[in-house]
Amino acid sequence: MEFFLDTGIVDEIKEAVDWGLVNGVTTNPSLIAKSGRTQEDVIKEICSLVNGPISAEVISTDKVGMLKEAEELAKIHDNVVIKLPLTIDGISACKVLSDQSIKTNVTLCFSANQALLAAKNGATYVSPFIGRLDDIGHSGMGLIEEIRVIFDNYGFPTQILAASVRHSDHVREAALVGADVATMPLSCMKSLFKHPLTDIGLEKFLADHKKSL
Ligand code: G3P
Repeated sequence: MEFFLDTGIVDEIKEAVDWGLVNGVTTNPSLIAKSGRTQEDVIKEICSLVNGPISAEVISTDKVGMLKEAEELAKIHDNVVIKLPLTIDGISACKVLSDQSIKTNVTLCFSANQALLAAKNGATYVSPFIGRLDDIGHSGMGLIEEIRVIFDNYGFPTQILAASVRHSDHVREAALVGADVATMPLSCMKSLFKHPLTDIGLEKFLADHKKSL
């Protein structure tokens, strides 16, 4: 399973890159807005820090506008992945871009049928939003399971990118059901390290070591 950081804050990326665990980065308009910088600036800097797929989202809602934005975003760096919303225009633009071998990440996926559309049009990644489904009482993880079965049934190469990941259990469950990637905030990635018995055990080892001096 690959780990992506879901952020537009460069300092957070620098911190996690140092742990050797960041395979890529995803952003969205809300995350870029939080950074207080332009998307182009942020994406350029992220590409200089992480040698992996970096998702940058289009703002246009029509196919022509999306393709125009995609062209500009793709010029920033070879690692840029064009993030498109799961709409008729987004899925149509996905087909055009995948035919040109430009990498895509179809976002705002909330159903297995939507994921099937993205896969049929050659998306590199599809992003089911598991936290937002959980928020409304649906099963985010159930959706990942369904998409896994469908993609395996037909051998679709589209990767399942578990998004809207909120806590460490989401990561564990997404790994168990076979998501290819989990994108998460820095706080969530940090929480993966944590177990109280690790802290207690380390404290005891260090105390015992002192006794042996
Ligand atoms: O990048 C999309 C995403 O992961 C959104 O997460 O927490 O805003 O639902 P959240």
